[in-house]
Amino acid sequence: MKDKLIVALDVPSRQQALHFVDILRDEVGCFKIGMQLYNSEGPDIVRDIQTLGGRVFVDLKFHDIPNTVAQTTKIITQRQAYMFSLHASGGFNMMQVCAQAAQEAAIEYHVPKPMALAVTVLTSMSQKVFEEEMGIKKPIVEQVVYWAQLAQKAGVDGVVASPQEITAIRQAVGDDFAIVTPGVRPLWAASNDQERIMTPKEAIEKGATHLVVGRPITTHRNPKEAARMIVEEMMAAKKNC
Ligand code: C5P
Repeated sequence: MKDKLIVALDVPSRQQALHFVDILRDEVGCFKIGMQLYNSEGPDIVRDIQTLGGRVFVDLKFHDIPNTVAQTTKIITQRQAYMFSLHASGGFNMMQVCAQAAQEAAIEYHVPKPMALAVTVLTSMSQKVFEEEMGIKKPIVEQVVYWAQLAQKAGVDGVVASPQEITAIRQAVGDDFAIVTPGVRPLWAASNDQERIMTPKEAIEKGATHLVVGRPITTHRNPKEAARMIVEEMMAAKKNC
């Protein structure tokens, strides 16, 4: 189960990020770096984490013309990212060339193929904004399921989705598709600014394959202990299934 726990390294510096990698690398499966850390420290932060023995989820949410996304995917693959993200709203062709680029680059550079994960609708978006600003007049969950199915057809390995959407996505895409979910909070942790949260046990029971957890681990007085407690909760869910 620990392979399914991803720690969000939402910290501003290399020093802080590597501190967490150092103490958590044996407790979790992967470290997620987003725009903040990637842009403050540059791409070498990927190699630095790997050197300490951590796998890296490069969460830069690609969204561009297919060629640009495909070429960037090749670079990310060469750098041996374990996972990376792209926007499903970039369309079928963008997702398909991206998935193909990961496959081709893995062969070309003799490295493992990274998992491509499509972001559907950001959980920060309300139904009202979705309809009025994006101009899509349907329930968000319907669009999420539609994009998850499109991503699957395009050869993408999974989606990043809110815990509330896991059940609908799982029903639509079957078992062989990753669902990576943030917004996870153990009962003992503060919700922070996450609104529609779920416990690790609930998220796994609903069909999530990976959980992204940040502050409950990184702000805990003992991050290693916090990660272990979350993995234990995840394991309890598996036994019930
Ligand atoms: O600290 P916390 O556990 O809330 O961190 C969750 C991580 O997941 C953050 O890196 C956040 O940007 C990311 N995320 C999210 N909700 C989404 C997509 C990503 O919280 N819909």
